[in-house]
Amino acid sequence: MAREPDSALRWAGLLVLSTLSTAVIATTNPGVMARITQKGLDYACQQGVAVLQKELEKIKIPEFSGSFKVKHLGKGHYRFYSMVIRGFQLPSSHIKLVPEKGLDLSISNANIKISGKWKARKKFIKTSGNFDLSVEGISISAGLQLGFDPSSGLPTATCSSCSNQINAVHVHISGSKLGWLIQLFHKKIESSIRKTMESKICQVVTSSVSSKLQSYLKTLRVTTKIDKVAGINYSLVAPPTITADNLDGQLKGEFFNVAHPSPPPFTPPVLAFPADHNRMVYLGLSDYFFNTAGFVYQQAGALHLTITDNMIPKGSKFRLTTTFFGVLIPQVAKMFPNMTMQLNIGAPSPPYLTVLPTGLVFTPILETQAFAVLPNSSLAPLFELQLSTNFSVEVGTTPDRLIGKLRLNRLLLELKHSDVGPFSVTELQAVMNYLLPTIVIPKVNERLLEGFPLPLPADIQLSNLVLQTHQNFLLFGADVHYG
Ligand SMILES: *[C@@H]1O[C@H](CO)[C@@H](O)[C@H](O)[C@H]1NC(C)=O
Ligand SMILES: *[C@@H]1O[C@H](CO)[C@@H](O)[C@H](O)[C@H]1NC(C)=O
Ligand SMILES: *[C@@H]1O[C@H](CO)[C@@H](O)[C@H](O)[C@H]1NC(C)=O
Ligand SMILES: *[C@@H]1O[C@H](CO)[C@@H](O)[C@H](O)[C@H]1NC(C)=O
Repeated sequence: MAREPDSALRWAGLLVLSTLSTAVIATTNPGVMARITQKGLDYACQQGVAVLQKELEKIKIPEFSGSFKVKHLGKGHYRFYSMVIRGFQLPSSHIKLVPEKGLDLSISNANIKISGKWKARKKFIKTSGNFDLSVEGISISAGLQLGFDPSSGLPTATCSSCSNQINAVHVHISGSKLGWLIQLFHKKIESSIRKTMESKICQVVTSSVSSKLQSYLKTLRVTTKIDKVAGINYSLVAPPTITADNLDGQLKGEFFNVAHPSPPPFTPPVLAFPADHNRMVYLGLSDYFFNTAGFVYQQAGALHLTITDNMIPKGSKFRLTTTFFGVLIPQVAKMFPNMTMQLNIGAPSPPYLTVLPTGLVFTPILETQAFAVLPNSSLAPLFELQLSTNFSVEVGTTPDRLIGKLRLNRLLLELKHSDVGPFSVTELQAVMNYLLPTIVIPKVNERLLEGFPLPLPADIQLSNLVLQTHQNFLLFGADVHYG
């Protein structure tokens, strides 16, 4: 006997340990998974290369000078200066996924147009002019390594390798009869420009990744406060995964209480993504994600609505008065003659949404307490109903938010408690069938149509949306537009 509590305790301990360890394993599933396909990377590459082009055009070319020697004339001096890049064309670029490593950016056939001034001097002879220069057949190859910063939950990008090659440099001199002089040292100009560009191109690529790309990634709002009650946590929980076909980001995907964040008592399911790749990005939103919303709002007491008679449309035949209810339940009119009524509707437990391949199932249990409003405004309880509901949920997005809409499929009433004696609850079915779609659901839909932010970085708009339901998650596919 004395040993029993002891061993019970040990069993309890084991149970806690095993649930903890399954919880640890289970939390490795993301609540939301974001996928970028090759099509998405191609678009990102275009946008990135446009930024890179502007940065490359800012390269400063140092002036250079030297001396030359011409037969019979002797030594002279030359200077090339005021050199500016007139254009840096990057006509062909590709980005490739390198599984488990990162991304490979390759640019080929790039060319640069440079113009500048030159001066040459030899005792009495002074001559000067302009020149144009083209650098052709440039190829650049850079490796991008992707990671994440656990403290901020943001993705990171660094340039892990870079190399470039220049095929040819051509110089065209104009503006002087003595242009021929320049031909004497065009080799020097060409090799000097080649050296400058070869050393600067990779500097610019590396710094563009660490400044421009990195700061753009920081515009991803990983935690967003959405209203007084809740925020959404879209933090990355692991470094991005790179396969031959996709770049995947595992996001926390969780609503949290802004005042008192606490983990929900359930864990994310496995998201078995289909192999679709027609859209640039895909977003898998698990039912865990939606259920953390239900949990947070319910725990905060936000899933609550008070209905009074003045909320009911003027011309309605249904009224929240003891006179009207007295027709259905005579005791109400007898005990509380000629008074208005109030209904408090709420969710006594977190509502759960299940995502199935066939659609979304939302079946919250609601409780409704009915009161008579006494002449001195205090409330006299009449009865309490349990409402078993069945809603269909339509989900969609605006260009940057997730929106939803509920439609009532079925409502089942049950009398939980009565303060006015027994009565048949079927009398109330018509009233509740009227009140829910007229008063309650529009209020909920008003909030759902305001929507919730999606995990997007700055200036991204979604288009060509596709939506599929799968076991335990909703899959959105979209093309993106930047700017
Ligand atoms: C968001 O999730 C990350 C990863 O689990 C966690 O480190 C962070 O504290 C969370 N932030 C909030 C505001 O809950
Ligand atoms: C019911 O109450 C309203 C206002 O409170 C009053 O105007 C009306 O005369 C009352 N009707 C009856 C039958 O007592
Ligand atoms: C209101 O009236 C009811 C019944 O007439 C009484 O029981 C109750 O105490 C009153 N409440 C207040 C706050 O005066
Ligand atoms: C909800 O209603 C739909 C359509 O009426 C039905 O197919 C489904 O089985 C119901 N689900 C539950 C859990 O009641």
